[in-house]
Amino acid sequence: PTIYFTGIQPTGIPHLGNFFGSIEPWIELQNTVDPGTQMMLSVVDQHAISLGPLPAAQLRQNTRQMTASLISCGVDPKRTLLFRQSDVPHIAQLSWILGALQTTSKLARLPQYKEKQERFKKGDIPVGLLTYPLLQAADVLTFKATTVPVGEDQSQHLNLLGGLAYAFNKTYETDIFPIPKQLTRETHARIRSLRDPEKKMSKSSGGARSRIEITDSRDAIIEKCQKAQSDNLGTVTYDKENRLAVSNLLDLLSAVTRTPVAEMDSSTWSTLDLKMNLAEAIDKRLAPIRQKFEELENSDEVEKILLESGEAAREIAEKNLKEIRRVVGFL
Ligand code: TYM
Repeated sequence: PTIYFTGIQPTGIPHLGNFFGSIEPWIELQNTVDPGTQMMLSVVDQHAISLGPLPAAQLRQNTRQMTASLISCGVDPKRTLLFRQSDVPHIAQLSWILGALQTTSKLARLPQYKEKQERFKKGDIPVGLLTYPLLQAADVLTFKATTVPVGEDQSQHLNLLGGLAYAFNKTYETDIFPIPKQLTRETHARIRSLRDPEKKMSKSSGGARSRIEITDSRDAIIEKCQKAQSDNLGTVTYDKENRLAVSNLLDLLSAVTRTPVAEMDSSTWSTLDLKMNLAEAIDKRLAPIRQKFEELENSDEVEKILLESGEAAREIAEKNLKEIRRVVGFL
């Protein structure tokens, strides 16, 4: 059977990169697959401390905000098992098991590791930064998921995951794990920073003006769009080679309005028109989400959903881990 799994770090409020790369495609899937298809979405709070500890209250709030955001965007906890990673300790056990099948040198070659380790002094790099992809692989394999919808930036992690599933099966002469397939949409799988279109929109770098979060106020959206990088050619053309910044804004508008760039009458616009149209479209798209989030943020519903789904996820994990422990020789 097809089992869909994806994870998202509790960075607080998701940005438009998370939204278009992951959340929107997930919701489209959720609303179109056969009812009864297993769909699991994990708020990966253990991953959130891979760069070092956070204050406990902050981590708790980030998890709550991310969960409330996902529901506000349309994740339906009746159809998607929306759970908190740390509620399923089995994942960490499998992560340890996978560590036996992986080398440090391969982990150290991953681009995300290479990039993030630069934030630390030599000798100060946390172990979690290196082993992060093992935990991610364990997320997916604990549930024997077959299909992993993610944005483009997760491709290397997904390759590693496939390799680990294969290595496990081979080492232990079993076919326990399906080799999970990456599912990435063809357009809008990589949303770029508003300040530096060479980079992806990201929570952890680029500064607050480089990203729009899904609960940003109308004023904040307008300000960030106005200050987004463009150029001084005045008119608007789509030309990724020579006008990456302007093309980036057109791509974003295309994602927000679900209209191909070619179908926009952008030839009559100034770059300022483009920015104002973009701000207007984003605000219109996000307004209902913002409102739902305000209702949910401080209700008890979020914690209730997490507790219930956590239990359901644990049940599946326990069944699978029993089998895995036996194969490994722990049982
Ligand atoms: P995270 O939390 O950074 O991002 C969550 C999802 O959002 C996508 N995404 C983007 N898509 C397009 N453009 C962007 N600028 C952009 N930024 C983020 C990501 O591709 C992702 O789909 N390691 C994962 C979380 C994870 C996971 C998993 C994913 C943990 N375990 C198991 C899948 C399966 C991460 O850090 O995503």
